[in-house]
Amino acid sequence: MAIQLTNILKLGGSVITNKQEHYSVRYSDVYRIALEISLAYNKCSKRVVLVHGGGSFGHHTVATYGDVKSSEAVSQVVYFMRELNMIIVDALHAYGVPAIPIDTHAIFYRTSENDLQCFCKPLEEAIEKSVIPVLYGDIIFSYRGPEVLSGDEIAWKLSTLFKPCRLLFASDVDGVYEKPPTEGIERKAKPLDIVRLSNLEAVEFSFQGRADVTGGMKAKLLHGLRYWHSGIAEVLIFNGLKKGLIYKALCGKPTPGTRVTL
Ligand code: IPE
Repeated sequence: MAIQLTNILKLGGSVITNKQEHYSVRYSDVYRIALEISLAYNKCSKRVVLVHGGGSFGHHTVATYGDVKSSEAVSQVVYFMRELNMIIVDALHAYGVPAIPIDTHAIFYRTSENDLQCFCKPLEEAIEKSVIPVLYGDIIFSYRGPEVLSGDEIAWKLSTLFKPCRLLFASDVDGVYEKPPTEGIERKAKPLDIVRLSNLEAVEFSFQGRADVTGGMKAKLLHGLRYWHSGIAEVLIFNGLKKGLIYKALCGKPTPGTRVTL
């Protein structure tokens, strides 16, 4: 039997929360996205891993403490991220998706700068049973103490375990831009069709959205340089706020956005 492709979908924090307002969920988008995932699950893809970002739950809580060194900061960030995670999982359940929450801090540990370890066997088993694990950007323990692990890095890391796979980054922008998206009198600048990781110097990052504690668009691409491998079938950065694109991306249908290659 041919090995089946796994979809790893990262939902950006700005797609599921209002980043300007503390602890504010974009409920209508969350439920629309849950419906799209449910349609894709039933029509074309039972092997899905979801990872979501921190948005105004994670980044705001980290900002409140300034860092995540104290035990109080660790427990509070984890508390709010689990709240957000449960909201996402509840929405998926409302549309009949067999999703289960997986606590990132319980299965990841960083032993050195270049070594992020994961006890991921439960994820593999879940996917074999067509269950969708839902992870999230979180605090993890590491060789240098507690630190923030972004959902982007989780997604890239998981790509090394699920081969072949498609890495889908649902963002609040259409992709990676060459010029600021609002530039141009007649028409808005369009996102690049392709970004090459080997040529990231060609990309100007100053206007690709706000870089937060986990580094924004630039960090998303830089993780690719570390984790790239031949089992990656596709990497796509696209707009998860545009109706229907998450469904299309999960089903491998043509989806507007920026493709990332080596
Ligand atoms: C951040 O995860 C997690 C915390 C701040 C605890 P991400 O870096 O993946 O979040 P977004 O997508 O930028 O909001």
